[in-house]
This record gives sequence, structure tokens and C-alpha cells, in this order.
Amino acid sequence: MTRVWYVKPEHPDPAALAEAASILRRGGLVAFPTETVYGLGADATSPRAVHGIFQAKGRPPDNPLIVHFAAAGDLPSLSATARRLAASFWPGPLTLVIPRVPAIAPEVSCGLDTLAVRVPDHPVAQGLIRRAGVPLAAPSANRSGRPSPTTGDHVLADLDGRIDGLLDAGPTRVGLESTVLDLTVDPPAVLRPGGISLEDLRRILPETCVAGLAAGPARSPGIRHRHYAPRARVVPVEGAGSGAHAALKAMVIRLRAEGLRVGALLTAELAGADLGADVVRSMGSRADLAAVAAGLYAGLRAVDEAGVDVILVDCDFPSVGLGRAIRDRLARAADLIPGPPPGSGVQ
Ligand code: TXA
Ligand code: MG
Repeated sequence: MTRVWYVKPEHPDPAALAEAASILRRGGLVAFPTETVYGLGADATSPRAVHGIFQAKGRPPDNPLIVHFAAAGDLPSLSATARRLAASFWPGPLTLVIPRVPAIAPEVSCGLDTLAVRVPDHPVAQGLIRRAGVPLAAPSANRSGRPSPTTGDHVLADLDGRIDGLLDAGPTRVGLESTVLDLTVDPPAVLRPGGISLEDLRRILPETCVAGLAAGPARSPGIRHRHYAPRARVVPVEGAGSGAHAALKAMVIRLRAEGLRVGALLTAELAGADLGADVVRSMGSRADLAAVAAGLYAGLRAVDEAGVDVILVDCDFPSVGLGRAIRDRLARAADLIPGPPPGSGVQ
């Protein structure tokens, strides 16, 4: 049985937080909102609790977890560079990969000598971590491979009955996962684009680069696995300019002629037109990337639940700022970002 507490995002009921915290202290699993997506929390100092996360999610055993702290001050060993970033972006959607911290269960890092840490910007997450009195290991609270949950209902759709509790505080604000920045390499490398953009990071650390597969997939274990994907096949569509509508319509006709049910998740600029798709959902105006990001996973799940075979997704966003993170997630949902080649020495 998964216990659900419905709480106000800004003023969560202290009694609900206290109950959830006591479950965590006993080694249980509680999902909670952060500003990015819902996380599945467990006591990061307990190997048994951490193991429970991998079981509940069906997570590959080689994909390490992010540990969530209430404040940067709870991480006394941060380097000067990490402290500068923390001062600018914490609490917020930035995860830093640093050398391992002794108090944290090694199972969190899956055999790596590094640890991913962040301070989430959400009163429920903050209140829960403080009351639990321990840092919380928390991957996104979805079944492995599925889109991250941005509402409590998404968490239950994937994990009801598999976890002890859920603090449901409504939709999350950012909607995409945190940016993961590896500070154990020189220059620092973005392993996953997210809520804090490359441009934001370069204002503090101008040398920041983006890790490609060439930079070593072993440093970024999560990129090997299919991710963020609904059940239907996701087909990204480029070119929202003139002619996009006709091209989309031709694609829908071709797919339907093959007997497929076709869904479309499109920016508002395209969604209004009659395409002949079975299901069409708008993901907001391309002029407002924050809104597109916030609604992206809910949109993918909703079109998927309509029982389509294929989802055409408008991915014509600029590769800057939040656009880079949106494009990255859509490419992964479509399985367009490959793992390392076989025999490359990286499992
Ligand atoms: O916004 C977020 O980051 C959310 C919320 C709940 O905080 N969490 C999240 O966790 O997205 P998860 O587990 O779904 O993604 C963590 C990513 C994975 O790609 C994982 O491989 C990477 O961080 N990661 C974790 N530890 C790492 C490490 N030591 N070195 C390199 N990458 C690491
Ligand atoms: Mg995840």
C-alpha cells in the first residue's frame, strides 16, 4: 500500500512531513516533489534503503543516484568551485558530480568514485530532508525508462504499491530534470542538460563544456540507457517554419495508411491546424520554452495513454538555454541518442 499525503506546495502540513520522514528514517521509500520532477527518496546513508530504490524502479544496477541535501552547508567538503556554483544556483536545478562523501552509502554511486549531489528548491523537499535528518538519495520517481513524473498521479501510475508513501503537492515547476555537471573532470562537463543552462553555468565557469560520448560514457552512466520514453514510438519532427504543416499532414496520412494510430504533441503554433491525427495535444507556444518544458512529460504521457502507436513530437527548438534540454529529452524518448559502440570497453 502506498500512503498518499496531499499537501500544499508552499505550506506543507508538518504532520504529513513528520510521518513521511519517520518512514524514511526506518529505511522506507517516499516520493516527494522537487522543483524539477518528483523524486523517489530513501536514506542515502543506508545501503538497504538505497537498494530498495533500485528494486522499486527496476533501475539498472549501474546507474548511480543523486543525493539531495537541505543546504550547501551540509556538504562541508565542497571545493571552492563547487561552492561558487552552489552560491549562484542552490537551491535549484543543478546537480554537481564531486568526489565521494564518506557518510553516503557507496551503493548510491554504483562503484564510481564520484557522487552526484544537489539542493532542491521546493518547500516540501526541504522540509522532508530536514525532518528526516539524513540526506536523501532520490532518482526520478518513475519506473526505469519512463518519462519522469511531474505530478503525483504520474508517480502512482508507475509506482503505486511499490513504494511506502507519496507527498503529492501538485505539478512541479521546471518539469525537466536538473542539469548534471561533472566537477571531477577538467574542464567541468555537462553530462545532462537541464533546468540550469550551459549559458548560465558559463557565466560562473566560462570553461564549462558539454560531454559527448567521446568524453567517456563511463563518466555518465545514465546516458547508456533508454530514457524518458512513453510506450509508443516517439518520432521527432523538425522544421516548424513554413511547410511544416503540410509535411506533418503527409506523415500522418502515411502512418495511418499503415494501420497505425497516430498521436501528435505539438507546439501551439502547429497544434491548432487539422492534421488528421488520432490525438493532438498542444505543448504550449514555442515562444515560452519554460512552459513547454514544464508540460513536456505530462504531454508525452497523456498522448501515450490515448493508446497510439506513434507520437509525432515537434522538436524544432533552438539548441540554447532550456531548448537544449528539451531537445535532449525528446531525442532520448525517441531513442536517437545511442549508447557506446559494442566493444568500446564500456559496459
Ligand atoms: O532533477 C533531478 O535531477 C531529479 C530530482 C528528483 O532531483 N532526479 C533525477 O535523478 O533526475 P535520476 O536518477 O533520474 O537521474 C540522475 C542522473 C542519471 O543520468 C545518472 O546517471 C547521473 O545523474 N548520475 C548520478 N550519479 C552520478 C555520478 N556519480 N557520476 C555521473 N553521473 C551520475
Ligand atoms: Mg530518471
